[in-house]
Amino acid sequence: MATSFARPKAQELFESQKLALAYFAVAIVLFGAQLIFGLIAAYQYINPDFLLDKLPFMTNRTLHVNAMIVWLLVGLMGGVYWFLPLETGREVVGIKLAKFIWWVIVAGVGVVVLVYLFVQIGPGNALTLWFINEGREYIEAPRWADLAIVAWVAIFLYNVIATTLAARRITGLLGVLIFDLVALGALYTAGMHYTVNVTMDQYLWWWVVHLWVEATWEVLVGVLMGWSLMYLLGTPRKLIETWLFLEVALVFGTGILGLGHHYFWIGTPEYWIGLGGFFSALEPLPLVAMVVHALYDAGAHRLHTVNRPALFWAIAQAFGNFIGAGVWGFMQTLPQINMYSHGTQLAAAHGHLAFFGAYVGTVMTLIYIAVQNARRPVMIPLDSRYWGWALALMVLGIVGIAGSFTISGFSQTMIERAELGSTWSAFIQSYTHPWYTHTLGWRYLFAWIFVAGYLVLVYDLLTIGKRREGHAA
Ligand code: HEM
Ligand code: HEM
Ligand SMILES: [Fe+2]
Repeated sequence: MATSFARPKAQELFESQKLALAYFAVAIVLFGAQLIFGLIAAYQYINPDFLLDKLPFMTNRTLHVNAMIVWLLVGLMGGVYWFLPLETGREVVGIKLAKFIWWVIVAGVGVVVLVYLFVQIGPGNALTLWFINEGREYIEAPRWADLAIVAWVAIFLYNVIATTLAARRITGLLGVLIFDLVALGALYTAGMHYTVNVTMDQYLWWWVVHLWVEATWEVLVGVLMGWSLMYLLGTPRKLIETWLFLEVALVFGTGILGLGHHYFWIGTPEYWIGLGGFFSALEPLPLVAMVVHALYDAGAHRLHTVNRPALFWAIAQAFGNFIGAGVWGFMQTLPQINMYSHGTQLAAAHGHLAFFGAYVGTVMTLIYIAVQNARRPVMIPLDSRYWGWALALMVLGIVGIAGSFTISGFSQTMIERAELGSTWSAFIQSYTHPWYTHTLGWRYLFAWIFVAGYLVLVYDLLTIGKRREGHAA
């Protein structure tokens, strides 16, 4: 089973892999939308009147972060549809249903975006909850869309489980995948409860946000990167699975109670300060393990691979995950520090670095692997002059954006909170301090560098592997 990881041969794509290509295409388009809204939001920090009555900051921000969640989830699910037939040696069971629900979801996302754009202001009541906006950061989709998403994830789960059963053999990777996807899907429903008590609302909302990005998504990425490394480097399955089990134990062991780092100041019992501080401080451990693992594998092969773009994104992923999630997260996770830094732009610095490192890195690795097989069934190393530029510009861009956020967050933490004690005048002083005002411009500049990287990436994805077709033949 799954011999195709080491040396993919000329072969027709599975239907499931064709579906994965559609997932990846939509992911890249939504990535572009995320950046447009991010750029406008960043510019509105500098010029608050810009598009004030047409596209206010609040709407841009909503679209920026929701687009991100959706396209990353789509990219990761696309990765599963890509590798599942290779792992099980057969077409995915229920693929017709999967295709059907996919186009329903694409249409649904379009409708939700249009509604956000056209209905920006109004009362919050049961009607708006169902049809307009649920008002929970990152997962603002109205309830009808929530239900569609639940159906989508249920079909996805059915695809994975039924295909595994039909293959009549379960691998360690598949076992972890199924266990993880059940948790991932179930957790989404925690973001759908409406209560008038804000503490309870936030308490459950964090189950989705934190337990997704710091537990279930992280494990999903472990599985997908495991498959990717088997493909890219021919790493033996035993080695991959041994590391994976270790990582899963560490991710869940630290990340589940690490949830407490969001419960310090929202009205939950005080024991969360100790629990959250302790367990979340250990969360970087599995991320270190992942860096060591990726580097060990890549080093053992002296970077020899059939797909350098994918391998370099995989290495960027390992480092980005560790630095963005591990280091920038650790920086503000102890209650003694979080008391001052909570809710400042330090959180946004960490959010950008972590999402980019851990999840954008993974999706790019997956996409380059898929593109290689879609374009060139014959195994010829995939390369171009552009992918390196795209990677470099995007890394430079995100480091600049997050660096600017870090400095402005530092000014908020030190000046507004720690030195001047959170008074109104302290607020004004920190927001007019040069460390704050200048970084808004720097952030905007680096955002354009990031966008340049994105454009090179799109060009590269559209063309890589198409040239020198004669040579390939
Ligand atoms: C890939 C993994 C991760 C992602 C994508 C991620 C993302 C984020 C995001 C977007 C926020 C802001 C949430 C909001 O809007 O309020 C946040 C907050 C936070 N994250 Fe992470 N994170 C990750 C891993 C970690 C890790 C490993 C740690 C700890 C070691 C950590 C510690 C924190 C803390 C303490 C906050 C709250 C900051 C505050 O109080 O303002 N994160 N994270
Ligand atoms: C053109 C590039 C980008 C620009 C200009 C940009 C700008 C912004 C701005 C202005 C905000 C609102 C911050 C606030 O509320 O104070 C924001 C939030 C956010 N952005 Fe971006 N962004 C960009 C790219 C990205 C990328 C590539 C990612 C991740 C893959 C990302 C993830 C996030 C997250 C998670 C938040 C919420 C942070 C929090 O609540 O703490 N952004 N972004
Ligand atoms: Fe968290």
